[in-house]
Amino acid sequence: MEYIKLENISFKYGKKIILDNISFSIKKGEVLAILGESGSGKSTILRIISGLETPKTGKITIDNHIIFNKNINFPPEKRNLGMVFQDYALFPHLNIEKNITFGISHFNKKTKKIILNKMLKLVKLEEHSKKYPHELSGGQQQRIAIARTLATNPKLLLLDEPFSNLDANLQSSIRKEIKSIIDIEKTTTIFVTHNKEDALEIADRVVIIKDGKIIQIDTPENIISNPKSSYVKHLFHY
Ligand SMILES: Nc1ncnc2c1ncn2[C@@H]1O[C@H](COP(=O)(O)OP(=O)(O)OP(=O)(O)O)[C@@H](O)[C@H]1O
Ligand SMILES: [Mg+2]
Repeated sequence: MEYIKLENISFKYGKKIILDNISFSIKKGEVLAILGESGSGKSTILRIISGLETPKTGKITIDNHIIFNKNINFPPEKRNLGMVFQDYALFPHLNIEKNITFGISHFNKKTKKIILNKMLKLVKLEEHSKKYPHELSGGQQQRIAIARTLATNPKLLLLDEPFSNLDANLQSSIRKEIKSIIDIEKTTTIFVTHNKEDALEIADRVVIIKDGKIIQIDTPENIISNPKSSYVKHLFHY
């Protein structure tokens, strides 16, 4: 059962083609990686799914409901998707607690408290709830950014380069932590990366993109054992 579906999505900046007829789908609970070099169009795909950019053509459906086609274009706030940006974008003047509950400020106090505690526990930062973002490490800030997003119970979690700002030693442990958070919550997730280890280790399936075109969509195992082009071969077999 396809949960999120992109069909024939194309996007241009001026005359420059950024995405060329992109189609893929995600099953409920699946973790999908989009792997590609800098400038290949990864962030643009996430921005289009979340409604921050409007494609020239194509169709996007969630649970069989159209959120984008030539006649329909849901604004970001009506899509109920959660995006975590590359720089985390935490609010520097709000403490961790306030950052996490930012998107649920309209809920009653009791519900907010329940969700806050659940999220702090999930990302293992219970002791830090009164601190401010600058008092936390990069990895901790990132977990807060994820907690803030998951607090809103999004239908889809979109992570843009979740590991790239972290130092190399931390990357592998953070990767495991984030994977376990996603697994516990069973959140349908798309994450963007230029790092093949990230993609192979975390994702159920990997979308390989080059110059705005999809080169291969496959499980990590198949990408390694059955690369469909010389580009993928070169990427994984030196
Ligand atoms: N606002 C913009 N105006 C014009 N061109 C843009 C704009 N934003 C992105 N681009 C171009 O679109 C292409 C795809 O950009 P995108 O940010 O999606 O790439 P990316 O794969 O996320 O790269 P990175 O790994 O460096 O984040 C690039 O060639 C980029 O220069
Ligand atoms: Mg990007």
